[in-house]
This record gives sequence, C-alpha cells and structure tokens, in this order.
Amino acid sequence: MPRFSQSVSALRSSAIRELMSLASRPDIISFAGGMPGNELFPVAEVEELFRGLDDKSKRAAFQYGPTPGLPSLLESLGGYLERKGLPVKTNRLMVTTGSQQALSILAKAFIDPGDRVLTEYPCFIGAIAAFRSCGADIASIPVDEEGIDIAMLRKEAERADPAKFLYITPYFHNPAGMLYTTERKQQLIEALQGRDIPLIEDDAYGDLWFSEEHLDRLKPIKSLDPEGLDVCYTGSFSKILGPGLRLGWMLAPEAIWEKCELIKQSADACSPSFTQVIADAFIRSGKIDTYIASVRQEYKKRAACMTDALRRHLPDYVQWNEPKGGFYIWLTLPEGADATAILKRAIEGGAVFVTGSTFDPDGTRNNTMRLSYCNNTPGEIERGIPIVAQAIRAVCG
Ligand SMILES: Cc1ncc(COP(=O)(O)O)c(C=O)c1O
Repeated sequence: MPRFSQSVSALRSSAIRELMSLASRPDIISFAGGMPGNELFPVAEVEELFRGLDDKSKRAAFQYGPTPGLPSLLESLGGYLERKGLPVKTNRLMVTTGSQQALSILAKAFIDPGDRVLTEYPCFIGAIAAFRSCGADIASIPVDEEGIDIAMLRKEAERADPAKFLYITPYFHNPAGMLYTTERKQQLIEALQGRDIPLIEDDAYGDLWFSEEHLDRLKPIKSLDPEGLDVCYTGSFSKILGPGLRLGWMLAPEAIWEKCELIKQSADACSPSFTQVIADAFIRSGKIDTYIASVRQEYKKRAACMTDALRRHLPDYVQWNEPKGGFYIWLTLPEGADATAILKRAIEGGAVFVTGSTFDPDGTRNNTMRLSYCNNTPGEIERGIPIVAQAIRAVCG
C-alpha cells in the first residue's frame, strides 16, 4: 500500500460524486454544473482575434512566460480592474491558472495542518477542497440573504487564537446565489479590522449582474482597501470568457503576493501563455465588454425562465432566492429533509442537481439543493423543473 500524505488521505470522493456518475446518461437534464452555456462561447470572435495578432504575439503564445503573468495581460487586466475601482497600483496583480489556483496558492501561503480558517456556510466546494488539502480546520459561519452572520463572525474574530483567514463569495454566491448588502460588507470590515485575519474576497461572478440597480452592492471590499485589513481579491475569466482558458487572477498586498509568487513557481511555473495572449487581445479589443453584456442578457432570461417554472411547480414549503445575477438558485427544504434521497428520485426521472451537503464544510447539513440555470435552454428548464419538483414531493410529501 503506498504511504500517502496525511493531507491527501483527508480528501474523500463523496457518495454524491458516485451518484452523479449515474447522471451521465445523454438524456438527463443537468442543473448541476457551474458551467457557462456551451453555445454562448465567443468562438468566432476569438478566432478573429488570434488571426489578427502579429507574428511576435503568436509566437509568445507558444512560449513559457513570467510566473506572475504576461506583462501585456497584467497591464490590460489591471486596466479592466481599475475601471471597477480596484486599487491595482497599490497592490500586486498575478495571473493564475483559474481562480481555483489563486485559492490553492493562498491556502498554501497561510495554512499549516490543524490551522483554523473561516468560511461561509454554504461554501464553494473548490475552496473547501483547497483549504482541506492543506489540513485546515474549517469553521463555517452561516449566510442569510444579506451576507455572513456578523455576530458569529465577531465572536470568531475576538478569539485568543484567531483564524488564519476568512474566505467569502459576496457577489452572486456559489451556491447560495445571494448578493451581500453594502451594510453587511461594512459590518464585516469592522469585525475584522485590526484582528490580523486576512480576507479572501472571491469575485468569480460579479460581472454577471442582471440590473444596474445592484451595481453599488457589487463594489468589491478590496476597492475600499480598508485600513487594518489585508484583502486578497480573486477573479476569473471562466464565467466571462470560458473556463477552458484556465485563467484567473489575484490582487493582493505586496507581502502576500511575494509569498504567492514563490508558491506558484513551484506549482506550474506560469499559467498558459496561449490563453493569456487571447485574454489580453479580448480585453484590448473591447470585445470583453460587449460579450459580457450579451451573456448577462442570456443568463437573465434563463434565470427568469427557471424562477417562473419554480413558482409554478414547487411546493410552498420550499424557500428559494430570486437571482440578481450569477448562475445559481439555492433551495431550502424543511428541517430534516434529505436532498440525497430527492436527488436519487430526480435522476430516475431524468434531472440532476447538486445536494446541499456538498457545500457544507462539515458535510452534514443536507436539507438544501443548488440549481444552475446557466447551461440550459429554456426548453430544458421547462422540462427539468417539474421532474425536480416531483422528486421533492415524493420525498417530503
Ligand atoms: C465561487 C467560485 N470561485 C472560484 C471558482 C473557480 O473557477 P476557475 O478556477 O475556473 O476560475 C469557481 C468555479 O466554479 C467558483 O464558483
């Protein structure tokens, strides 16, 4: 038997993952993946951009690049982030291999085995896995529709042995779908200031808003650069261009950035130059803005289609959020309901979603479920939601 490390031995393939492998039937309607719509990718635009590049840029695309990212992309991406009000000049920007790598690098930079870290409940599964793989002891603090529970956060922040960091997804949360209010962000800042608990602010979905009225709430905490609080801001091209590029970024204070660069050197030396060249051209051409505007419209339509179907088919005892952007709707069932039993029924009927326990660092709370509307046509949503609703009724009555 190979003698694996303690950290890898702590990683488990969940029963849910095995159940999901049953769901690969071609006829199944999947509300499970957090994937952009396949047919929405800007294939023609990217082909044209690559063809239009000069020979030097095309050759750079095949070459290794600097660990923190190609200078041209750091410049264009820096400009993109500055337009959102982010303090690019007083921090350091790093291109990462997906924002998942930014989370893994930050986990490595801060966590020794047994260290306490704070997350939300529910929490993005990729973050749970990244923190756990470093041996973290994860304490999760519940969110409501306005953000994290501040009383619980204060209690954690005042401990004599404070956690190594707090990780949050404030903008169109994965999986809870919600958007932090400005007031809750301010309370969070006040709870953490001067406590030596850095904040990891994950903004993978913030560009995908459905209404301008929410723009104020979408202002990153990082853009305020609050005193006495180190904020590491992460983002991604995955939802605004394509996850196949495997490109994300991290904007962090210099001292943290330097450690992260060392970690990235040993992880992959550099992120793919090929896709960095594409992403750079995408930003510089201005196509990024028109593309994001078009996918926003499409996701808004899909979200409206799903909420309409949920309103017509779900029993009254199921609570759920009306999405303001992003990819997800989070369903809360009565206490004690078992989303895994519902998933089994739904798979038999021909639809699939992700059960709530997947997003619980403790892996226990399971009266919740996540539905994605991003990779489904309105027709699939119309056919799939009644199957999910029927599965809920069959299990919960
Ligand atoms: C909240 C959140 N953060 C980070 C990621 C990682 O995305 P990527 O590595 O593709 O940038 C995801 C992917 O679904 C996500 O939902």
